[in-house]
Amino acid sequence: MNDTPNTTPLDTSPLSTTVGLLAGKVAFITGAGRGIGAAAARLFAREGARVLLAARTEAQLKTVTEEIRAAGGTADHVVCDLADAASVRAAVDRAVELYGRLDVAFNNGATIQQPGPMDQLPEADFDHVYAVNLRGPWLAMNAEVAAIRATAGTGAIVNNSSVGSLMGNPELPAYGAMKRAVNSLTESAAVTYGPEGIRVNAIAPGSTLTEMIREWEEASPGVVERITTHTPLRRAADPAEIAQAAAWLLSDRASYVTGTVLRVDGGLRA
Ligand SMILES: NC(=O)c1ccc[n+]([C@@H]2O[C@H](COP(=O)([O-])OP(=O)(O)OC[C@H]3O[C@@H](n4cnc5c(N)ncnc54)[C@H](OP(=O)(O)O)[C@@H]3O)[C@@H](O)[C@H]2O)c1
Repeated sequence: MNDTPNTTPLDTSPLSTTVGLLAGKVAFITGAGRGIGAAAARLFAREGARVLLAARTEAQLKTVTEEIRAAGGTADHVVCDLADAASVRAAVDRAVELYGRLDVAFNNGATIQQPGPMDQLPEADFDHVYAVNLRGPWLAMNAEVAAIRATAGTGAIVNNSSVGSLMGNPELPAYGAMKRAVNSLTESAAVTYGPEGIRVNAIAPGSTLTEMIREWEEASPGVVERITTHTPLRRAADPAEIAQAAAWLLSDRASYVTGTVLRVDGGLRA
């Protein structure tokens, strides 16, 4: 180490600036019809990105897209099933068709499993969680790296994992296992694509007020309160708070961050 002052471009920017965190970037977001993905689409657009929203439910995608456009943002949507390889590739390609490039992607879409001990989960359910929550992000990352490489040249990807990937997860064992594997793929991708300037990180949210957690609460009444009791900040997250972490990791402000799994969990695992 020496004492030479840091003269990176980040240090020479004006004191006050109105340029958005993701200005000029094209962003692809899965699971963007509701919850964290919809909050991310709104935020990324507010921060200057042109966004492409993907999920299965077109009506939800349309609503969020129109909301973003009404607020002055640039957005479009594409129907995509993460369990279907061709559909994932076509969705990523759509971003390039629409906007001419791909810079960043937030692989956020996922499904929850029926809560319960691992020996009670039907094989077909395990396979579905695998297809959507692990194979889906793998397919998406492969297509995204190819699209970034062919257009923007360099870029960033964030995968949405879960704090439930970082510990034994007896209530959601298949979900936890796929999310743990997403962390591993994230790290492998960061190492593989780092040399060409493509950063890959994950976020690990704690309990966040979306349909997914409401579904879990319905199946296991009291679970949200139980998690909140063990969360130092004593509350669940708003989806927008999770989206903020993804936006930062995707932005050039995180230019030296790759291969990390960032907990956004109110301190749950501290
Ligand atoms: N909420 C939490 O407490 C929490 C905590 C930790 C991590 N997470 C993670 O955060 C991410 C977002 O979840 P959320 O809480 O916002 O849940 P959500 O409100 O249920 O949203 C999930 C999104 O994923 C999409 N999706 C589900 N299955 C899909 C499929 N087969 N193909 C394409 N899209 C699919 C859904 O749209 P369609 O159903 O229309 O396809 C929806 O847009 C997930 O990765 C989740 O594991 C959530």
